[in-house]
Amino acid sequence: MLETKKLPRMKVVDARRQESIGKTVRICGWVRTRRDSKGGFSFLEINDGSTIKNIQVLADSALPNYASEILTLGIGGSVEVVGDIVPSPGAGQATEIKAATVRIFGTADATQYPLQKKGTSFEFLRSIAHLRPRTNTFGAVARVRNEICRSIHHFYQSRGFLYVHTPIITASDCEGAGEMFRVTTLDLMNLPRKDETGSAIDFEKDFFGKATNLTVSGQLEGECFATALTDIYTFGPTFRAENSNTTRHLAEFWMIEPEMAFCDLEGNMDIAEEFLKTLFSDVLNNCSQDMEFFAERIDSTVIETLSAIVKSKFVRLSYTEAIKILESSGERFEFPVSWGIDLQSEHERYLTEKKFKCPVILTDYPADIKAFYMRLSDDGRTVRAMDVLVPKIGEIIGGSQREERLDILESRMKAQQLNPADYWWYLDLRRYGTVPHAGFGLGLERTVQFVTGMGNIRDVIPFPRTPGSADF
Ligand code: 4AD
Ligand code: MG
Repeated sequence: MLETKKLPRMKVVDARRQESIGKTVRICGWVRTRRDSKGGFSFLEINDGSTIKNIQVLADSALPNYASEILTLGIGGSVEVVGDIVPSPGAGQATEIKAATVRIFGTADATQYPLQKKGTSFEFLRSIAHLRPRTNTFGAVARVRNEICRSIHHFYQSRGFLYVHTPIITASDCEGAGEMFRVTTLDLMNLPRKDETGSAIDFEKDFFGKATNLTVSGQLEGECFATALTDIYTFGPTFRAENSNTTRHLAEFWMIEPEMAFCDLEGNMDIAEEFLKTLFSDVLNNCSQDMEFFAERIDSTVIETLSAIVKSKFVRLSYTEAIKILESSGERFEFPVSWGIDLQSEHERYLTEKKFKCPVILTDYPADIKAFYMRLSDDGRTVRAMDVLVPKIGEIIGGSQREERLDILESRMKAQQLNPADYWWYLDLRRYGTVPHAGFGLGLERTVQFVTGMGNIRDVIPFPRTPGSADF
């Protein structure tokens, strides 16, 4: 065994390449299946997560541990195989490994191991989220998610955007929606009170000397850097305590938030559109086998949908125009449509799936339903907001041009019951050398969901956090 350690370990993805034929290699991984032939040998299908495809290992009965160990191997067992890569006569693979040694790290008792060969439901797999990365689907999701993250950084880095780390613990509520998780070290059984009557909690006694929460967005801090360094992006976890038990909401999710100085809403839309198309084409080009798997097993339309979007031009239309379309659509919506309503997912889906059959960028929403920081238009009742909507998911990006005028920003805050004094530092960006600027937030999980066709957002993040559930 010792001498095998000298061989560098080769990934299964590389061992499967035609160019590897003739090499002596060492691979490590987990058994997916074992088939025994009457001819006195066994086939092991091994996977190490580097590709959706397995490598076939031919284990001859002449191997010293054939009867004692190899014939006990089943799904989930972990092995190291040293051998020569030879052309494979079997269909669907160019190569296989003729094993010189098979060393077993660990077996997995078939009567106990929950991942047996039969297809298991995604719901069941959520209850064993520690083991689901070993399945084809979750391996493919992890690789596609990784590719999207690589592509995100490459997209911004290649355009000179700086990656800025914004805080996870904050004292402000960027979206003003109050959907925040409290961060505290106060003793919940014995809360300090402000006065004898004991009504208000005294957060001055808390760890940070004030009430703090997990961030819902890195945007406000991102703006501090954009108004100094011009083009920045953040990419980190965000937290929302909204009690939404849907297939598109998580309590903890990842968001990418570019922020651009000297940029208006049109520039913002251009970047958002180019950004999404780049992510989609990178996944199509760099994860083709995983995408074929999703097309075969999850949603037969994913590849054609993404390919069409990459070549398409997104529809851009105002909220007001969208309302008119919805009102005259003849559709029966659960939530009735009128100017001023917050669009529901059924409305967004009608626009993207039935009316335009492509991504739609909706702009210029009513000021009353959007956050305080969005730039007020001359009509006094709409803001320069933009939401990018895609089929099946609905909103994938939310963004806006920002209000750069101090007085208007202050009055918008007051109108939304926010105290401008709490945001003094954010207002300083307008007080000193203010500039037009804009940005948006892309939800990473909704992106992975859209690209893979996975039906539930809980299945595109390693360990989902949702109301009533924070396991693992
Ligand atoms: O539209 P949102 O709330 O926008 C912001 O947070 C802005 N501060 C962004 C900015 O302008 N810099 O969220 C942005 C995106 C949504 O379009 C959606 O894709 C995703 O974040 N998102 C969620 N994803 C999963 N679960 C949730 N609960 C989400 N809430 C928002
Ligand atoms: Mg939004």
